[in-house]
Amino acid sequence: MSLFRPGLFVPFFSICVLAAPSQAETGYEGWLRYAAIDDASVRKSDEKALPAVVVILGNSVVEQSAQAELVRGVRGLLNRTERIETVLPPENAILLGTIGEVKKAVPTFNAPTDLVTDGFYLKTISVDGRRLLVVTALNDRGVLYGTFALLRTMALYESIVRLDDEENPYAPIRVINQWDNLDGTIERGYAGGSIFWANGHIVSDLTRVGDYARLLASLGLDGCSINNVNADPHAIDNEHIRELARAAAVFRPWGVKLFVCINFGSPKSIGGLDTFDPLDPRVIDFWNKKVEEIYAAIPDFGGFIMKADSEGELGPSAYGRTHADAANVVARPLKAHSGIVFYRGFVYNHHADWRNLKLDRAKAAYNNFHHLDGQFANNAIVQIKNGPIDFQVREPASPLFGGLDKTAMALEVQITQEYLGQQRHLCFEVPMWKETLDFDLHAKGAGTPVKALAAGKVFHNPLGGFAGVANVGLDTNWLAHPLAMANLYGFGRLAWDPDLSSQQIAEEWTEQTFSHDPQVVKAICDMQLKSWRTYEDYTGPLGVGGLTDIIEVHYGPGIESAERNGWGQWIRADRHGIGMDRTVATGTGYTAQYHPPVSDRYESLKTCPDELVLFFHHLPYNYVLHSGKTLIQHIYDTHYAGVEQVKEFVREWQSLQGKVDEQRYNQTLALLEYQVGHATEWRDAVCQWFFKISGIPDQYGRVDHDPNRIEAEAMKLDGYEVFDVKPWETASGGKAIRVVSADNHGSAGFNYSGKPGWYNLAVQYYDQTNGVSQFTLLVAGQQVDHWLADDILPSRNVQSLPNGHTSTRHTTHGVALRTGDEIKIEAVADGGERACVDYLEIEPARP
Ligand code: GCU
Repeated sequence: MSLFRPGLFVPFFSICVLAAPSQAETGYEGWLRYAAIDDASVRKSDEKALPAVVVILGNSVVEQSAQAELVRGVRGLLNRTERIETVLPPENAILLGTIGEVKKAVPTFNAPTDLVTDGFYLKTISVDGRRLLVVTALNDRGVLYGTFALLRTMALYESIVRLDDEENPYAPIRVINQWDNLDGTIERGYAGGSIFWANGHIVSDLTRVGDYARLLASLGLDGCSINNVNADPHAIDNEHIRELARAAAVFRPWGVKLFVCINFGSPKSIGGLDTFDPLDPRVIDFWNKKVEEIYAAIPDFGGFIMKADSEGELGPSAYGRTHADAANVVARPLKAHSGIVFYRGFVYNHHADWRNLKLDRAKAAYNNFHHLDGQFANNAIVQIKNGPIDFQVREPASPLFGGLDKTAMALEVQITQEYLGQQRHLCFEVPMWKETLDFDLHAKGAGTPVKALAAGKVFHNPLGGFAGVANVGLDTNWLAHPLAMANLYGFGRLAWDPDLSSQQIAEEWTEQTFSHDPQVVKAICDMQLKSWRTYEDYTGPLGVGGLTDIIEVHYGPGIESAERNGWGQWIRADRHGIGMDRTVATGTGYTAQYHPPVSDRYESLKTCPDELVLFFHHLPYNYVLHSGKTLIQHIYDTHYAGVEQVKEFVREWQSLQGKVDEQRYNQTLALLEYQVGHATEWRDAVCQWFFKISGIPDQYGRVDHDPNRIEAEAMKLDGYEVFDVKPWETASGGKAIRVVSADNHGSAGFNYSGKPGWYNLAVQYYDQTNGVSQFTLLVAGQQVDHWLADDILPSRNVQSLPNGHTSTRHTTHGVALRTGDEIKIEAVADGGERACVDYLEIEPARP
């Protein structure tokens, strides 16, 4: 029904209200801010091109979302309120509807013949003297995607004057995984608790779930699983199915299908059987009934995700069955409802014998799945991580993408930055994903990049595509770091079109999320595009692995944690050399899992690229890389360069003061400054560890020699004692100080012996989560700073100790020092946090 009479369009709606850059923004809207267009000519052109009426031809809930979104978007971008009609009026109009619906209203309309499901067509046509702007598709979800595309075009200041845009998704599978636990925590989530679950149940207020679905739909993502892959079997018990139906109902208007992770042991744990053997008729019956029950409550249910026989999860090996048996027992009943099962390819033995030089976790996925090719039901998709290990900062593409010709596949990437700084460090993952997507595995001669294999294009599989582990949380801006949502945006855009460039994605995101100001766009894109390589520079070099503590928190440095255990992320470092030998000639034989010429390229040191050389080869520290540097000098140099680059990020960001809103400006600045401190911790841990083990000094004399640094253990202590930090490399010189006095007070001081001048004083200390210590910095008896150690560093789920995860830095800028001044840190320890200090650094203040 019409809200306004046709012809009553009043141009004064278009009075422009421009968003002031200083206005506070929370980031909740993500890239869907629809900020007022502040370019006069774009605005004028849009105002002229955009009809005042939106005609919604169908009445599905998804089409209703499309219509509401269009009204919302235009209101924000142009400050206009569109009128709504359900039949074509005798004036210019925007038409939203499926091709069938549009043809009914405009019989002369010519739709492209090659549109596929979810694809859309935006076209300006003239009919009987009217200009019609048609947003159409084969299905209603496509109409919604077309609407978002139209709004994106406007938000990017691109012309909508003569629309003629046909887009089809690259792949049919474009889904998000959330690893949320039923108790409301999130496995590898770094932005607060779950938006889906609390205290064992789906939350009662699902507003955020709907808003999340809207963000996903705006990118063309059409599925989302909402529980941990390490699945609680109760997620699909009778009580929870009713609750899941509520979440599915909130997803539905945005065309997002609900998926659930299942536990392979469910027939036993919740089904009352004494077995979960996938070939046992009672187990088959359990899954058949369970699937029917779910579809009775959720008719458009997407399907299951299954992690089996991996990291302690139950699996088919318990009965000598195969992964295909396990996938098929649920795939069969799902098939009747067009449901699918994603079967995770992340299967490996985490109790491997580290002494066996021929064992190799990298080989596991291929070895577990290659021989089963052809045995999976056609609605079972093997979901494969981008690399053969586990989301490390640099891995080669998984050879399994080239090892399954008759099986549907999905490429899994991690949006949540588990091994990439956990949304405390800036790390834009799109360039990393692009390397995998574009990597030619030569699976059928040249020209078979991973993206084409995963999407089913090479071996003509109708299913296939992309899955991203997002783990958004209750933090207002969804992913904690104001610049981290670029990863969710980037994943969605690549899942739709993996041929987009990293640069384009970064620009699109920045313009919609922050501003069109060229300086803002340039600085943010520059930071984003450099950030992954920068993170790699100061963490794990040359493909060796993350060098992080791999046992628990996967955040700070913990170099030896990879060694001498069953997890198989070995780096094989000793005083002679480092790296896993994965060659056929002398190593584990992993290179043979690739097709030639890729296998040959990795096998030979002559052709193996430097950036992956330690993934494939064990080399002495004085080995000369293609770059001409020795391996050890490369490690030192990249770590120092990485820290300098982060400092440069701070300066770049500071140049945007006043050009982005204060709230996001301050939040980002604080995180970048933190990153400088933690990158320094990383640099020093890695460099001093490699120096100690190799005995080879840094050619530039930087490692283990910091003229500006005063070690805490060398200061005059009162109430403090010196202790050994574990692992040793996570403290400068291996030692730090902790408060031991009965009244919790301690002080550490020294006399400044350098030249007088202006300096920044940086205190490197440990901010644990088991207390809130206080620090006061004094110079010549005068207090120059005071702060609390109250950050929640990502060690919240593990025992909180002074180590590489909790090491942090507080900098006091612009302090006037005179030779002989006493510099003193006074601290009050709290609870388990003993106000531990590593060192103080004195750096000349920049003018
Ligand atoms: C990583 C991660 C686990 C997760 C696993 C998976 O190993 O640390 O928390 O369960 O991946 O992908 O299944």
